[in-house]
Amino acid sequence: MCGIIGYIGNKAAEPILIKGLKKMEYRGYDSAGLCLANNGKLLTIKRKGEVNELEKAIKNEKIKESKYNIGIAHTRWATHGSPSKINAHPHLDSENKIAIVHNGIIENYDSLKEILKKDKVKLRSETDSEIIAHLISKFYKGNLKEAVKKTVKLIEGSYGLAVIDKQANKIIATRNSSPLVIGVGKNETFVASDPLALMSETKKIIYLKDKQLAEINGKDFVIEDYIGNEVDFEIIELKLEAAQIEKGNYKHFMLKEIFDQPQSLRNLLAGRLKDEEIKLSLNLKNKKWRRIILCACGTSWHSCLIGKHFIEKYTNIPVEVDYASEFRYRNPVVGKNDLFIAVSQSGETADTLAALREANLKGADSLGIVNVVGSTISREVNSGVYLHAGPEIGVASTKAFSSQVLAFLLLSLYLQQEKGEKLDKKTIKEIKRLPQLVEEVLKTNQQIKKIAKKFNSINNFLYLGRGINFPVALEGALKLKEISYIHAEGYPAAEIKHGPIALIDKDLPSLFLATKDELLEKIISNMQEIKARGGKIITIANEKRKELIELSDYVVYVPKTTTELAGIVNSIPLQLLAYHTADLKNLNVDRPRNLAKSVTVE
Ligand code: AGP
Repeated sequence: MCGIIGYIGNKAAEPILIKGLKKMEYRGYDSAGLCLANNGKLLTIKRKGEVNELEKAIKNEKIKESKYNIGIAHTRWATHGSPSKINAHPHLDSENKIAIVHNGIIENYDSLKEILKKDKVKLRSETDSEIIAHLISKFYKGNLKEAVKKTVKLIEGSYGLAVIDKQANKIIATRNSSPLVIGVGKNETFVASDPLALMSETKKIIYLKDKQLAEINGKDFVIEDYIGNEVDFEIIELKLEAAQIEKGNYKHFMLKEIFDQPQSLRNLLAGRLKDEEIKLSLNLKNKKWRRIILCACGTSWHSCLIGKHFIEKYTNIPVEVDYASEFRYRNPVVGKNDLFIAVSQSGETADTLAALREANLKGADSLGIVNVVGSTISREVNSGVYLHAGPEIGVASTKAFSSQVLAFLLLSLYLQQEKGEKLDKKTIKEIKRLPQLVEEVLKTNQQIKKIAKKFNSINNFLYLGRGINFPVALEGALKLKEISYIHAEGYPAAEIKHGPIALIDKDLPSLFLATKDELLEKIISNMQEIKARGGKIITIANEKRKELIELSDYVVYVPKTTTELAGIVNSIPLQLLAYHTADLKNLNVDRPRNLAKSVTVE
């Protein structure tokens, strides 16, 4: 996901822009650039590669910082056009009088390009974004705001956009389906695609809504809709501390976030589990839904597969789990008798947002399970459960996943409670024990690091589980592949005899989730099938069963708990295995190649 930051105020813009870009590096990018404005002049510097490449280039320009107190900057995650200096943002019009930074995708790029072709405009880059600068220039008659409005009305697709011109007296910011916030300072104002970028400057944040436009003059600003009516806005005080977005003594954010989990789970429970009662403030239209649909992407989709077990157990309402990208294009049969639950750590994933909008359009009741407060999805559901897991900086999701699973358990129990049924005391007691259970399983860290050393040069891995442990296997496999680039496949253990067992040999290890539940005996026979064919086995277990030990090359013991909470406890060793495997391969654990922290493009 691209990163946008803009500044206008009484300080030098360049250091603020660079600091903001660095705060957004965790999101993944391949090039960066900035444009500074001073009366009558735009100075643009762009580089392929990391922000510090851009910083070096700025130093070589020997610019007088104080000259520029307005600017925009951008980290690009390539969608149209390869990672390169020319494709980096900001993009300017042909006369270099207007500069833009953009986050999103222009779906009607080809038809808009035709308009420019008629005007004999020569495009410099391969990007779709560049045409925005030329269109604004085409409509520009001295009023930047009006020119931007005319331009965005032509765009089909998503945009988070910040625009400056060489008059150097304002920033125009607007959005559609791509996050953008205004940061309110003293005699200065900021624009960013991620509030974390502004953390060190201001905690007063306004979340722009779709098709709202801000005209920012520095000490003040106006927010209006596209027909020119001023709109009300709410200034939210960010409850973030700098420490939350620093690594501390950890080598990577991902390791910090894995070890954050006892606390992030406590944060989720705070105020929601009191004296055997679940307290969730949800304004759900009705509770007699015919069906509950869970929609998400990636790791969040895995948490939905576990959530299905809980909701069906405690409410007896049928649950469907759907990839958001599939749901949104299927003209889905959904309506007022359905509850649609969107699950998203970032609250900005384009496919999940689009699926939610489709469900809302068709009258379904909607609920969000989201981590980022104020994010687009959290503002477009009827009600929701915030994870309160704190910022998740590592691209590979860990603490958000465990909190999503726990949120599903709380929600399921809440719905059962709302039906007037008594909650199961054992389950409540075990939920209260969960943070210390996670502390317990984190003690396997060094053992798992040793196991990672044995397997970090293999090319393929099978992760196998049954019941709730099947989604855990899927999630463990995703963790491994996305940060160590080892191909790993999660599979229902019983299914291997229907094909995948043909793959088994001494070079294809299998990891089994073999914790105590009603399916353990069956898992042990699946392990025998693998062992008989020479496959190596790593086992996650919670009791010392003789046959299980004999079948395993390595056993990692985790604390015993209920089947439901095993969905969280068992995922922790898999997070650690992926982390150490990638770290031992000296890979960029927090920013794996080709990945972004939040995929706000389709
Ligand atoms: C998980 O490790 C990945 N980073 C990715 O699959 C992620 O879960 C997915 O992109 C969904 O993101 P969201 O939860 O922010 O919607």
